[in-house]
Amino acid sequence: MRSIAAIPGDGIGTEVLPSAARVIDRALSNAGTSVSWTWLPWGCDHLIEHGSMMPTDGIAALSQHDAVFLGAVGRPDVPDHESLWGLLIPIRRAFDQYVNLRPVRSFPGVQTRVRIPDDAVVDMVIVRENTEGEYSELGGRFGRGTDREFAVQENVFTRTGIQRIATYAVQQAQARGGSLVSATKSNGIIHTMPFWDEVVREVVEAASPSVNLRSVLIDALAAELVQRPDRFQVIVASNLFGDILSDLAAATVGSLGLAPSANLDPEGRFPSMFEPVHGSAPDIAGKGIANPVAAIWTGAMMLEHLGLHEPATHIMSAIEASLLNPATRTADLGGTATMAESEAAILAGLPS
Ligand code: NAD
Ligand code: IPM
Ligand code: MN
Repeated sequence: MRSIAAIPGDGIGTEVLPSAARVIDRALSNAGTSVSWTWLPWGCDHLIEHGSMMPTDGIAALSQHDAVFLGAVGRPDVPDHESLWGLLIPIRRAFDQYVNLRPVRSFPGVQTRVRIPDDAVVDMVIVRENTEGEYSELGGRFGRGTDREFAVQENVFTRTGIQRIATYAVQQAQARGGSLVSATKSNGIIHTMPFWDEVVREVVEAASPSVNLRSVLIDALAAELVQRPDRFQVIVASNLFGDILSDLAAATVGSLGLAPSANLDPEGRFPSMFEPVHGSAPDIAGKGIANPVAAIWTGAMMLEHLGLHEPATHIMSAIEASLLNPATRTADLGGTATMAESEAAILAGLPS
């Protein structure tokens, strides 16, 4: 039986992750199968109680599982760099989950936030580099408390790192019509971004001359994305650019509450980790009104990854059916449903 390590984390992570697990369990049991869950109470409560976001052998414990399913990390009374660098980011790095795959799509019945032509749909994936780039540990704070205090943070772009993310993005582009947009800023960032452009182009040319690569400056790309999200199929981006674009793209189709993500080690050396794009949403945490769709769709991605194709497809159809009905949409989509009502509608939409 496949085994999943589930880390609800903080805020709405503790609401949407159990919700998604219930949907997964039902879809699997209807298909005559199951997975085993190990629930791990790691996060800011763990930090306050034990002094660390996860136990010191946490990574070793996760490595025993087939996948990690994570809710969200972060709480207003804990500095974000401590909570995130104590749990989420170490997992991505320890397991070399260098692809952060973030699909974005419109759903029939859910009004996109930006106007697109009547017959158009949004259906893209953002392929975000997930282990290097702007999120590097190189640097430091110097002269703390003095009037000469300064901070330095080095961006790290390696040839290997760019090649492997570009290779994954090319495969996605080949499967999705052949168009690939690469987010850049080589006009202002003088060393790393021209290198990014160069290596991405080399990979595309070597792997697939049929892929149409367009390098677009990130500022203009943000504007283009918000005007015509329906025109994108695959975007490859560095860690920070991919992070920003994924919230932006999710907002165009309705809400962050619809955005799933997979942190993948495509070589399968380590467990991959599945988590919604959104954070712990302290503004709505504890109210029972979070949209569980992002976590549930993330669960379907995890099942696909584990080779459980049929229940994953059933979950996606049930999500689509639930979103067609305004009464079973949550408040972020302009609906009135609570999380429990949205979940119930999705459960009801699963074939028995
Ligand atoms: P956020 O994604 O938590 O929330 C942004 C906005 O979107 C809020 O108004 C929130 O209510 C809304 N929202 C998010 N998910 C929703 C859902 N499922 N249903 C309905 N509305 C939803 O981002 P933030 O407010 O910038 O960050 C809050 C905390 O989460 C911070 O500590 C941050 O560092 C952390 N964070 C963690 C992760 C992660 O663990 N993967 C990701 C992003 C942010
Ligand atoms: C995400 C989040 C994280 C990131 C934060 C919480 C460190 O925003 O997964 O999108 O930037 O990777
Ligand atoms: Mn983010």
